[in-house]
Amino acid sequence: MCGIVGYIGAEQAAPILLDGLSRLEYRGYDSAGVAVFDAQAGALAVHKAKGRLQVLSDQLHGGATLNSTVGVGHTRWATHGAPSDVNSHPQVSRSGKIAVVHNGIIENYTELKAFLVAQGVPFTSETDTEVVAQLIEYFYEGDILAAVGRVLRRIQGAYALGILCADCPGQLVAVRKDSPLILGYGQGCNFIASDVTAILRHTRRVGYMEDGELAVLTREGIQCYNHLIQPIEKEITTVDWEIDAAEKGGYEHFMFKEIMEQPEALRRCLSPRIRDGEAVFEGLSLPPDLLKHLHRIYIVACGSSYHVGVVGKYHLERLTRIPVEVALGSEFRYMDPIVDENTLVIVISQSGETLDTMAALREARRLGGHILSIVNVVGSSIARESDQVLYTWAGPEIAVATTKAYTTQLALLSLLALWLARELDTVSDEEYRATLAAFQELPGKMEEVLSRRDDIQYFASQYFNHNSIFFIGRNLDFALGLEGSLKLKEISYIHSEAYAAGELKHGTISLIEDGTLVVALSTYGRLFAKAMNNVVEVKARGADVLSLTTQSCREEVAHTADAVMTIPDIHQLLLPCLGVVPLQLFAYYVALMRGCDIDRPRNLAKSVTVE
Ligand code: G6P
Repeated sequence: MCGIVGYIGAEQAAPILLDGLSRLEYRGYDSAGVAVFDAQAGALAVHKAKGRLQVLSDQLHGGATLNSTVGVGHTRWATHGAPSDVNSHPQVSRSGKIAVVHNGIIENYTELKAFLVAQGVPFTSETDTEVVAQLIEYFYEGDILAAVGRVLRRIQGAYALGILCADCPGQLVAVRKDSPLILGYGQGCNFIASDVTAILRHTRRVGYMEDGELAVLTREGIQCYNHLIQPIEKEITTVDWEIDAAEKGGYEHFMFKEIMEQPEALRRCLSPRIRDGEAVFEGLSLPPDLLKHLHRIYIVACGSSYHVGVVGKYHLERLTRIPVEVALGSEFRYMDPIVDENTLVIVISQSGETLDTMAALREARRLGGHILSIVNVVGSSIARESDQVLYTWAGPEIAVATTKAYTTQLALLSLLALWLARELDTVSDEEYRATLAAFQELPGKMEEVLSRRDDIQYFASQYFNHNSIFFIGRNLDFALGLEGSLKLKEISYIHSEAYAAGELKHGTISLIEDGTLVVALSTYGRLFAKAMNNVVEVKARGADVLSLTTQSCREEVAHTADAVMTIPDIHQLLLPCLGVVPLQLFAYYVALMRGCDIDRPRNLAKSVTVE
């Protein structure tokens, strides 16, 4: 979703902005633009183009045509007004004095626009962002900070803003509320950015802006202010991500690289948490009263993180016998959730910035729940607003379709379920030890699955021309199917749905006809026989069946299915974590064979920061 980068320093700004934007491309966008202060003209120069960033970069010869040391850049993911040059950011005020880049939505823009129009202010775009630029100019009386402060008192919604004023070429103003924005502290230069990958080449020293805060950047430093425009101190954190972790490193796609990185990511995530035969979550201590009276768990998330929650529900309920409800971030707020001080709310998010998940977190907190989040991006909003956070330590994930974040979230949630069962004394010593041992086998077994990726590529070559694919499975396999189906549809654009296999006969089976591809998941031994019955049912209606099962069941499945993918046998708690890998690879190879833009699928964004 929209990406912001801003620079002020001694070097040429435009190439730095374009490079920063290229590192935010993964977030998803449909147009791009930059505004810089052109010292010769004594005015702001704004350039925007619909389409790929390359279009803008070509127009500007990689930034060489602009002469300036301060500027802001933006990749836009359209919300108000179609993707077009005019609707792209930066948006400028009527005189061209103020330029604004924005991530988020100004909810009351219609009434503000009506007010400005009544004052004779002409508008050129359909965006909510133009209202901000026009309103700043409307209030501007020579003090840009004061004008921005007045605007902030009037606008509602979510926004991260980067603002340039032609009268103050030595300053860049930043604002944040409910949309991510970080400050980067360089040497003789400073930055703003939607996330750290945009500026990692220049600095590792970052400051996380809080909601309602403003910042004024100059070459020499950054001064932060609270919402009352009173100066505040900002803590500077050093980011420990390696620069090449956010590069492709010889792989054709980030998605493939991230699939292959999973065993390593799991080791990073799990090994510090399994010590001397115990699950150890350093720093995690649930209040004793909560543990004593815990009577409900909510898991709240969106997209693939939600699918992690669906698996987690099975694990948590089986191991702890506490009822678990899994809710989509976008639904939670409006479903009148039953949360009190004896409720544990587990919030899952790779980016830590998904607005719906964030809003759900705040609602859960308002209702008194204890918030424990599972997050990948250190210092992200969800991490900071939770009572406790468990980081997945998967490293930067760039491809829109999540892979290593999913598996590390899932491994972490599964380990948490086991830990909680131990705390609550609902798991036998024997099961606890056996399960912990399985966690240690997981990365190695995943390497085994990855080493047999050519088999999956072959299956993809057999089936990539299908137009509609069904994933079926029961219990854990149903949860796994949800993710397998999502992976496939998001990057290959093949219509795909996941069904609880037993539910097929209540309607969906009518869609099965000769040659329909059904991916039948039967890794979960307890329900193996029932899963086989469903395979027979769809075969009888003409389906082609590609099965996924464990090695020990391979032969039996091969009698019924047309093709079989396998994973090594592993403890049931970890089956989905291992089972998802062939499905990720299948989605990847199918998309590759269909010529899709794998890392940047149409209409999707990596980090969804609007409701
Ligand atoms: C987007 C991404 C998905 C992700 C979802 C939730 O839709 O494309 O891959 O699962 O957001 O993101 P989060 O960062 O909260 O896990």
